[in-house]
Amino acid sequence: MKLKLIIILAVVLGYLMVVLACNKKQATPTAALSNHPTTAAPAPPDGTDPPHAVDTSGKAIPASSATQPDKPIILAKDIDDPKWGETKPDAAFDHVKHSTDPNYSADGKSAPACVECHHTDQPSSTVPYLKKFERKEVLTAKQLETSKDAVKSCRACHFSPTSEETDDYPPKSVTYPAAMNKPPSGKLTNDVAYHINCIGCHNDAKKRDAKLKAPVTCDDCHTKKG
Ligand code: HEC
Ligand code: HEC
Ligand code: HEC
Ligand code: HEC
Repeated sequence: MKLKLIIILAVVLGYLMVVLACNKKQATPTAALSNHPTTAAPAPPDGTDPPHAVDTSGKAIPASSATQPDKPIILAKDIDDPKWGETKPDAAFDHVKHSTDPNYSADGKSAPACVECHHTDQPSSTVPYLKKFERKEVLTAKQLETSKDAVKSCRACHFSPTSEETDDYPPKSVTYPAAMNKPPSGKLTNDVAYHINCIGCHNDAKKRDAKLKAPVTCDDCHTKKG
């Protein structure tokens, strides 16, 4: 009698273990598939929840918009670093000055072109290492006003190092022409993309005029944690 019970128990337990094992086996390929961008919906834009940036009135910068930011922006709100936090209030990014004031260009001659930063917002470019273009005409203030075609946030493509990667994002490292004498960019996560863009121009501008207030060191821009 006892033996019969033990055998039944062993059979039931064995069955349960097989069922559990099968479920586990199935879970892995399904999960891998759902993460694959070609079979599932595209990954949501990075840095929107929580927002990666807010303007000085507290409004979050959306994943894309056809309205230019009119107030300075505190970037890196969602930074994941033990030492450095969001950008300092006095290092807020002033979009108005950076897109209209000639002093904010590397050579000081005319205001930086929109596409110096929004590099995908043009139909093509002679810059050899740029390959991805998403706009029918070159982005200018006027083009934006007439087309009403939204401009994407940098973070729609330049994912955080902590976000799950897709086949396309973050963009892979680019190689610069030998004449530029610059090492390859490295995987273009948000920190790499912004640092190359922001600090690159700030360094060039300071060569023109060392007195410019363009920040270049970590603590010029980021608050210090702890
Ligand atoms: C095309 C060149 C260029 C790019 C790109 C650029 N900057 Fe600047 N930035 C400047 C110059 C030049 C100044 C100094 C202006 C002065 O001293 O009058 C400056 C000044 C600043 C300042 C000082 C405060 C102020 O508004 O004057 C901050 C903060 C700043 N930049 C942040 C950024 C960030 C963040 C990025 C990247 C998203 C960026 N900049 C990209 C050229 C650039
Ligand atoms: C110096 C770099 C720089 C220049 C020049 C520049 N922008 Fe921007 N722009 C930015 C950054 C950085 C943001 C914030 C994007 C983010 O948070 O990812 C932004 C945001 C925007 C947004 C809002 C996007 C969103 O996600 O809500 C629009 C629209 C825009 N820019 C249009 C323009 C136009 C038009 C010009 C030229 C007149 C221009 N920008 C020039 C760097 C620049
Ligand atoms: C639609 C996707 C997309 C958006 C939006 C985007 N990028 Fe990029 N970025 C790329 C891709 C892809 C590359 C690799 C080069 C290529 O394929 O054109 C790249 C390359 C770069 C590079 C390396 C090349 C260089 O110029 O040194 C920098 C820096 C950069 N992006 C900064 C930015 C900044 C700053 C913004 C926002 C103002 C931005 N990107 C918005 C997709 C994007
Ligand atoms: C010109 C201002 C500027 C300087 C100088 C600067 N950063 Fe940044 N940093 C930024 C911006 C802008 C971002 C991206 C913000 C976003 O994605 O919203 C960023 C992003 C980052 C991130 C974010 C990665 C993540 O988890 O999202 C780290 C870490 C970081 N910076 C560290 C540094 C360190 C270390 C230095 C000095 C070697 C430095 N930064 C210098 C402006 C700056």
